[in-house]
Amino acid sequence: MSQEEAKGALASSSSSQNSERIWDCGDLNLTNGLLVILELALSEVGCGEKVRLRSCDRDGIADVRTWSRLSGHTLAFSQGTDFVEYEIEKGSARKLLLDGETQWGKRLFQNGSSPQGPAGEPVRASTGALAGLCTVPLQASPQRGFAPRGAALEVHSPAFSFTLNDKRQVWAAEVADLYDQAVANQWDGVRDIDWSSLPPLPPLLEQAVCQIMTFLVENEYSALYVPGKFISRINPQYMEVVLFLTTQLMDEARHIEVFTKRALANGGGLQVCTASTEHSLKCLFEQSDFSCASFLLSVLGEGTFVDLLRFIEEVAPDPVTADIVRRARIDEIRHVHFGMAHIRYLLSEDAGAVNMLMRAVFERSLVLRDVTSINELVTRSLAILAGGGIEPAQLKVGTGRVNGLLKLMDENRRKRLVSIGFSPEQAAEVSALHTPNFM
Ligand SMILES: [Fe+2]
Ligand SMILES: [Fe+2]
Repeated sequence: MSQEEAKGALASSSSSQNSERIWDCGDLNLTNGLLVILELALSEVGCGEKVRLRSCDRDGIADVRTWSRLSGHTLAFSQGTDFVEYEIEKGSARKLLLDGETQWGKRLFQNGSSPQGPAGEPVRASTGALAGLCTVPLQASPQRGFAPRGAALEVHSPAFSFTLNDKRQVWAAEVADLYDQAVANQWDGVRDIDWSSLPPLPPLLEQAVCQIMTFLVENEYSALYVPGKFISRINPQYMEVVLFLTTQLMDEARHIEVFTKRALANGGGLQVCTASTEHSLKCLFEQSDFSCASFLLSVLGEGTFVDLLRFIEEVAPDPVTADIVRRARIDEIRHVHFGMAHIRYLLSEDAGAVNMLMRAVFERSLVLRDVTSINELVTRSLAILAGGGIEPAQLKVGTGRVNGLLKLMDENRRKRLVSIGFSPEQAAEVSALHTPNFM
């Protein structure tokens, strides 16, 4: 007998057993246990099939009749001297909704239920395999609420207020792998950084480090709050995106933590935040479209920050500063990767969306036109670290290196833009309009 035949035979035998069976409910009534047996009995039959129950409590007939009517089932009953026998035909009012295909019979681990590979190696339960078991829908109903993708959901469940219900609004091809990488690469700002290796620095260098840390923390808040405000709007059918963005929040929280600690570690403290940076970040935070926000934050902003963090690592006057910006940069590369993968997916589905993205950059540049210039406090601090001090020769070297950084940021922005589907001309225009605040 094949597997399918065995399953069919099992179902048919179970169905005929159910139609014959009389469920003994003792003296239970609807309020003290009969309902449990009733629902169990009904769960074992399909719509239109009948179940039979016997109870010694004849006073409960009216309750069972009302319950059956409200639940959409059809009730018949007969009475003996000291019992009542119910026959209930299962209705369809409480039917279940299932978006997509059933998962029954599919396995996460292809070799069986045990997570062991053929060579005795543990099998990796990659998150990307989940989409193979239940397809990610192109459109998701807000009516699905928090019911997981693949689960059946009872009708009449309430609609939720998710606004990101289209795959192209949020999806990225590699998002599940990025989530796995993010989880595997979490680090600990308390234990993983050798804070004892931080030497006393000349005040000038310490102040430059503290000013840069202040600027980084300020920007990290935007990288935390922007995805944070969208998570609750994403339909959970796109669980991989929600899970990934949650790791991003954890990353940004850790960046805020270690950059704040570095500013305070040597007695310098947090320095100055400028109005222009605040204007730039406020404008980013107020983006209402997820794709535009992801583009501005991750592709343009965090992309530019990857270059900035690498530069700080190169010119850092102490090993702690170099270590924390190196670790943050590795996290940022993941965030940039997600942003690029999302925009690439969006443009593959809707090439016209490039105009929406360009408009978002343009409109932001208009808002910032009168208030934003390059943050002099930050560029000066970078130049001091890059030159090693404020002697004229040192400043000349430092300023030259900072100018080189700005040029590199522009080149890399344009490369990223071209790689996700912008023309070289569009890429040059967008990169030139990007906020001089970097983020
Ligand atoms: Fe960050
Ligand atoms: Fe980030």
